[in-house]
Amino acid sequence: MNAENQHSLDAGEVSLAQAFTIEHHEIDAGIEQFLADTDPDPLSSAQPLLAAMEALRRHIYLEEEIVFPHLQSGALMMPLMVMRREHGHLWQHIDALVESVQNQSGEPNQVEEICTEVLALLDRHNQKEEPIIYPHMGVDLSSDDQGKIRDLLAGGAMPSGWVCEALR
Ligand SMILES: [Fe+2]
Ligand SMILES: [Fe+2]
Repeated sequence: MNAENQHSLDAGEVSLAQAFTIEHHEIDAGIEQFLADTDPDPLSSAQPLLAAMEALRRHIYLEEEIVFPHLQSGALMMPLMVMRREHGHLWQHIDALVESVQNQSGEPNQVEEICTEVLALLDRHNQKEEPIIYPHMGVDLSSDDQGKIRDLLAGGAMPSGWVCEALR
């Protein structure tokens, strides 16, 4: 992070990298909450899971459409390709999970099994993204852009029908 951007952070305000990392943890927590829930009503217990899947889709949208295009691609070209490919795998699992919850179709425990796969995919993805990609957000983005992206992360919506690049 350069000095200018460092100074743009008010006391107590999290950096963009921290804000995206916090959202990683919130999404994991929504899935884990579902797996730990013993509520016998599957539709009410699925609410945190469906909310986490919506948050994950929006998180991927913000990364691919708003953040990644601002990063200097040179050294990051390969890592960004890997991130986009993994977003595609995640997106397919989100689709399968949402369908399985909403239709109550499939085998018993299918939802739980897909949840476990999503958590493993997220773990492998985030443990690369956080140290390799996120530190560049504080360096390559202007403090103005960082502020706009922080606002989007706090409340911006994903355009309806958007899908990640790997699946287009
Ligand atoms: Fe991320
Ligand atoms: Fe990502």
